[in-house]
Amino acid sequence: MILFKPRHCTLLALAVLAAAASAAYSSTCANNVVTYWGQNSWGGSHLNDPDHWEQDLAKYCQGDTFDIINLSFVTNYNTSGLPVLNHAGHCETKFNGTNTLTCPDIGADIKTCQAKGIKIVLSLGGSGIYSYGLASDADGKTFADTIWNMFLGGSHDYRPYGNAVLDGIDLDIESGDHTGYAGFISQLRTHFASASKQYVISAAPQCVYPDYNLDSTLRNAWIDNNYVQFYNNPCNLANIDNQWNFDYKSWDTLAKKNPNPDSKVYIGLPAGPAAAGNGYLKLSTLKTDITQLYSNYSSTFGGIMLWDASWYSNNREYVQELATWVKTSMNCGASASTPASSAVAPS
Ligand SMILES: *[C@@H]1O[C@H](CO)[C@@H](O)[C@H](O)[C@H]1NC(C)=O
Ligand SMILES: *[C@@H]1O[C@H](CO)[C@@H](O)[C@H](O)[C@H]1NC(C)=O
Ligand SMILES: *[C@@H]1O[C@H](CO)[C@@H](O)[C@H](O)[C@H]1NC(C)=O
Ligand SMILES: *[C@@H]1O[C@H](CO)[C@@H](O)[C@H](O)[C@H]1NC(C)=O
Repeated sequence: MILFKPRHCTLLALAVLAAAASAAYSSTCANNVVTYWGQNSWGGSHLNDPDHWEQDLAKYCQGDTFDIINLSFVTNYNTSGLPVLNHAGHCETKFNGTNTLTCPDIGADIKTCQAKGIKIVLSLGGSGIYSYGLASDADGKTFADTIWNMFLGGSHDYRPYGNAVLDGIDLDIESGDHTGYAGFISQLRTHFASASKQYVISAAPQCVYPDYNLDSTLRNAWIDNNYVQFYNNPCNLANIDNQWNFDYKSWDTLAKKNPNPDSKVYIGLPAGPAAAGNGYLKLSTLKTDITQLYSNYSSTFGGIMLWDASWYSNNREYVQELATWVKTSMNCGASASTPASSAVAPS
């Protein structure tokens, strides 16, 4: 059978997650709100329309909307050169003699966000216009060392965000070889084991199950959060009542079988009417649908993912109402004493 080839919704990503009273990600709560920053999917121009263009990263950490922000993307990589970043117009300066961006302003914003409990994660991959891939698990391990040294707890001559230490990595693999990521994650976890900081590993598969590019990685490698893109596909959330199209149960089952016993599923949604080809729903419908999924799949439910941060500026009431509702309605929400999802299934 020929798999439906989904439209690419994600170009470069920075994910932002936000929690209840104050933004703070909790791996055991079901009320996390994650977004991607760095690709300005709203469009427009930062020169002609700076008020509506995607704002600086730290702007999205001022409120309590997001718990995790995903920096998008690392667009080109292999083991023979330094990885290449793309942050749309946010950062265009390179280290001398290299193709590697140096973004001290983003580095400062990362620290501002982290001081508020918001996790900033580096997204790898993106739409198929980019060239990336790993040929083997051995390549994956080599690449993991590079990523650890350039962005996480290691050290390197070329650190794009200086001494800011990111909180983890996100795989948005939409092309290239499918191999090597298990080796990559395994080697990252070897580094994490010797660190005091708690790192997050996530992936953003399309909702078509199994994911064409990520399936074997999602089954075999340690994954904390699955940000499933329930848009741009026949399996988008608008088809929740059509069992032939919409299939959340497979994602729940996948998370339960992951080597990480606490692996979570997030409902990935468009944050604005033009952020995706389909899957954008009015708030009342969305709340009914999310409540149903939260109730049926509470043990793996982690929260929602919104593509992308640029719509926070351009669809603010919607994004804010949705995020606030998730943060107060799902467990670990309004009441600090609310048990974590792993403890109690809501009736
Ligand atoms: C490897 O990646 C670098 C960018 O980091 C790129 O310039 C180079 O062409 C790539 N090499 C191969 C063989 O794809
Ligand atoms: C590149 O080199 C020039 C000249 O030495 C220096 O002024 C500039 O700061 C360097 N830029 C970076 C990003 O290192
Ligand atoms: C973070 O960015 C990556 C792309 O590098 C994407 O795959 C992933 O879905 C993003 N995460 C979120 C939560 O948007
Ligand atoms: C949730 O569970 C109810 C009751 O079993 C069922 O009718 C409904 O179809 C389920 N919805 C989803 C989206 O799984």
